Amino acid sequence: MTEGKISDFTASVMAALSNYALYSGKHPIVDEFSERAFSLVKDLYAGDTISLALIGDSLVFNDRPVSEKGMHIDNFIMRLRRKGVEKIEIRKGVTLEEFKRFIAGMITRDTSFASTHISVGIVEVTTTEDKYSIKAVLEENIEKVKEVFDKISSRDAKLDVRSLEATVTSLMALLKRDPNVLTILSPVRKHDEYPYVHAINVAILTLFQAEAMSVSDGLISDIGLAGLLHDVGKLFVPKEVIDKQTELDQHEWNLMRLHPLHGAMYLSSLPDIPKLAMIAAYEHHIKFDRSGYPDIHRDNRSQHPVSQMVAVADFFEVMRTERPYRRSAESGAIVNFLHQRAGEDFNPVIVDQFAASFAAVNAI
Ligand SMILES: [Fe+2]
Ligand SMILES: [Fe+2]
Repeated sequence: MTEGKISDFTASVMAALSNYALYSGKHPIVDEFSERAFSLVKDLYAGDTISLALIGDSLVFNDRPVSEKGMHIDNFIMRLRRKGVEKIEIRKGVTLEEFKRFIAGMITRDTSFASTHISVGIVEVTTTEDKYSIKAVLEENIEKVKEVFDKISSRDAKLDVRSLEATVTSLMALLKRDPNVLTILSPVRKHDEYPYVHAINVAILTLFQAEAMSVSDGLISDIGLAGLLHDVGKLFVPKEVIDKQTELDQHEWNLMRLHPLHGAMYLSSLPDIPKLAMIAAYEHHIKFDRSGYPDIHRDNRSQHPVSQMVAVADFFEVMRTERPYRRSAESGAIVNFLHQRAGEDFNPVIVDQFAASFAAVNAI
């Protein structure tokens, strides 16, 4: 048995799972990848069984740790964790039907995936109590961000960057506890809290992408801050424009389009703000093909990858959040839309990465 075959197997299983999560179990591409993974099973036996276990941060295949690294291995580990799966054993005689049932069990919430030739060892997964504390942590952080943003709006005090950094650390800890980003995103309960909830949710979705790219811990906190502060410039746009529930007229729209510039200028006036936060505040509406705003056609600038991650997070958050004038879109539909706009509004590599990570951790 070689690492290459294990890698092929996990890549095919992950492709089946990702497509199952994105479309449905009935999609032919799910069958195609399930069948491909099943065809590799015969080469992976050690004696009469294949054993797959999650020990600490490592995947152990037939009692040997898999040393290869890669997105599909990481995503596979994430998926096992999400389901609380500690060990899988596949025995000789396994049928394609049993294997497909196992794939479905890894995605759907309550299917029993064990069969005559496949057994799955499960540990307790997230409890209701845990969910409550995720909610409590979010509420506390929404309050903290509100406090900081309100002070900026009233020109009362300088931005408390330490408090925002503590929020980013707290959001990173939430993501580690439950990688299912949909569980962590906060709904908007009151109209006037939307700016703070939006900032928190965009920070979570940006951190989620950075985590999946294995960005180093030092940089990840700056990236989280970039997500949290991307719209800070809106605090300098007249409130009646920000709060308007109907379509903006040309003059109002011109004022709104200035928020990236206001944000970047404000952040650059402060001594201890990471440069990435300034860059993302300025660039998050520029778009991948540079057709957005501010107009940057005179410089040679293209959008920074962190601004591109923030742009994807921003779009996902706006589409997903229910507002008085718009219903929320279903996450699969938003991912499809991101794919359609890739190459124009969004960087295709970042969209692919987001979609794969999203599908790997989010059960439908
Ligand atoms: Fe914005
Ligand atoms: Fe935004």
